[in-house]
Amino acid sequence: MTRVADSVAALRRAVAAFRQQGASIAFVPTMGNLHRGHMRLMDQARQAADVCVVSIYVNPMQFNQQADLAAYPRTPDADRDKLRQAGVQLLFEPDDRTMYPHGMDQQTFVEVPHLGDMLEGEHRPGHFRGVATVVNRLFNLVQPDIAVFGKKDYQQLMLIRKMVADLAMPVTILAGETEREADGLAMSSRNARLSSEQRRIAPRLHEALCEIREVVAKSPDNTRKVVKKSIQDLGRTGFEVEYLSLRRRSDLLPPQPGDQQLVVLAAAVLGDVRLIDNMEIEQTS
Ligand code: PAF
Repeated sequence: MTRVADSVAALRRAVAAFRQQGASIAFVPTMGNLHRGHMRLMDQARQAADVCVVSIYVNPMQFNQQADLAAYPRTPDADRDKLRQAGVQLLFEPDDRTMYPHGMDQQTFVEVPHLGDMLEGEHRPGHFRGVATVVNRLFNLVQPDIAVFGKKDYQQLMLIRKMVADLAMPVTILAGETEREADGLAMSSRNARLSSEQRRIAPRLHEALCEIREVVAKSPDNTRKVVKKSIQDLGRTGFEVEYLSLRRRSDLLPPQPGDQQLVVLAAAVLGDVRLIDNMEIEQTS
């Protein structure tokens, strides 16, 4: 059975009871509309600790467009069923007043410099401030030993790691691999909003990242050319590419000669659905 806490007091009581039993806690923060990607993060959490706590909160602070927030899919009943089947012990499901008791404008915020300003941060101003602030508050409420974040939101994962390190938070961050549909499309709550024609085109984003990985791994001199060609090809296919960029994994800055641990990250819009994806690359030559 999954217990549900919708207030800070109920959450603290439940967490205190777990702690009294000597249980370790792994936490998976989500915005709901749970899919296989989320469920894999929960499997990982359950393997890493005695108790798995999940939060579902569609955080308005990280949406820079009202329309995007309004269109975000909410499926509370189906989510609860999935959590029950997955054996998640506790669901924290706060509302806006519980998360931001004095309103978002009055909320003390967390901002991660540099990492929070590039790529996603550049295209979605304020997004990462919203993410860092809500995750910080969730960590303080749940006080987990471990928290699990998916690599699908690669920059978010790095940002959380940086926040945890900079603020000396006693939480170990684990990364979950990206779950994909059979045709390669990264699982995302936004996929449900794709029309059938857009859904047919959408896997092209993953294919483009695979092509870039092939070229970069073998002949880094051709990186610029292949990235430029991919942007053009995706544009011709119907995507509006916001960014498609090769970075080094350590700090997401452009790679320097000798950097071998790379990642290519992309955000592209199909109609009114914004997709993000990424792929890690080992530069071997
Ligand atoms: O990745 C998400 O779903 C959200 O950004 C998170 C981490 C739950 C914070 O709202």
